[in-house]
Amino acid sequence: MENKLTVKDAKVRNQTVLVRTDYNVPMNDGKITSDFRIRASLDTINYLREKGAKKIILISHLGRPEGKKVKELSLKPIAMKLAELLPGVPVDFVDDVSGPDVEDAVEHLKKGGVLLLENLRFYPGEEKNSEDFIREIIDSTGASIFVQDGFAVIHRAHASTSAVAKNLPVYAGLLLEKEISALEKVLNSPKKPLMLMLGGAKVDDKAPLIETFKSKADHICIGGKIAADGAVAPTGNIYVAEDFDEDAEGNKLDCGPVSTSKFVETAKASKTVIWNGLLGKAEDPAFATASTIFLKTLGESPEINSIILGGDTTGFAEEHMKEHPELKFGLLSTGGGAALEFLSGNTLPGLESIENKN
Ligand code: 3PG
Repeated sequence: MENKLTVKDAKVRNQTVLVRTDYNVPMNDGKITSDFRIRASLDTINYLREKGAKKIILISHLGRPEGKKVKELSLKPIAMKLAELLPGVPVDFVDDVSGPDVEDAVEHLKKGGVLLLENLRFYPGEEKNSEDFIREIIDSTGASIFVQDGFAVIHRAHASTSAVAKNLPVYAGLLLEKEISALEKVLNSPKKPLMLMLGGAKVDDKAPLIETFKSKADHICIGGKIAADGAVAPTGNIYVAEDFDEDAEGNKLDCGPVSTSKFVETAKASKTVIWNGLLGKAEDPAFATASTIFLKTLGESPEINSIILGGDTTGFAEEHMKEHPELKFGLLSTGGGAALEFLSGNTLPGLESIENKN
């Protein structure tokens, strides 16, 4: 990240700034069920306002509407939530991304105001990585600076993550900078001992991580369905859960006390812990014991730099923090796939497109 330009390097005073955020938030019946990613975007917005940006235009996707308008995937509820989280700040919404309505909305936006455009993925150009599509957005908004703050989407080569760099200089936003710096640190110079704790159901997502961390981590522990299914073999520094809590049908739905104690002991003896994937079927409180105990161990141990990744795992942490705000973590990442790909050593188009420092 040190060789990339960030919003702190940009001259934003009196400029119209286009900011790519990731407001791909969980929704139920038109209601936002977690505003974690929306709150995470506020630092950059507030920074731009403090530095005197004239207008702040936000763009994002929500869900996978595949180039068509899908009413349930409109970003309008996000704009309402933003208005709630930014008291005193003019926040507007326009149900398009370019053209006369957008031009009009930008013109009427008050100085220092925030305008959220409609879902980028309502238009095929976004996922086609179309230069014309992003150029139309830039022209309609009159933006002179582009800030990439959608950390969770930088593993996609889309118009707002990749083609945009052919039109405007791209600067990293504060959220993106924070996430990449924290992940770079655990990837390149982690405080040791380093533990990688993996769970969840899909072994394909975890295999590249295991490969990358086999030589970097002191301990790799495996829980969740991937352990119950025997999808990872215990070898060398890899420990796989050995006992499970079962339902009446004999399905292994949580890690048992022996395995959970082993995970906790290993975490307590570590200085850095990366955790991705729940340790059991934690949406059912009867099978959330191992995940809860492990989460508390990390949250109550300030000496451990804990990095929590993936929607299910961070969502679980967020839920617990509502009742236990005293729990503290090194990084609750807003990115699932993006963070996993970064830690697996893959190139991320949205990171590549950020300007290098000379
Ligand atoms: C995410 O939630 O991981 C990002 O917003 C990317 O969404 P996608 O997997 O639909 O591209």
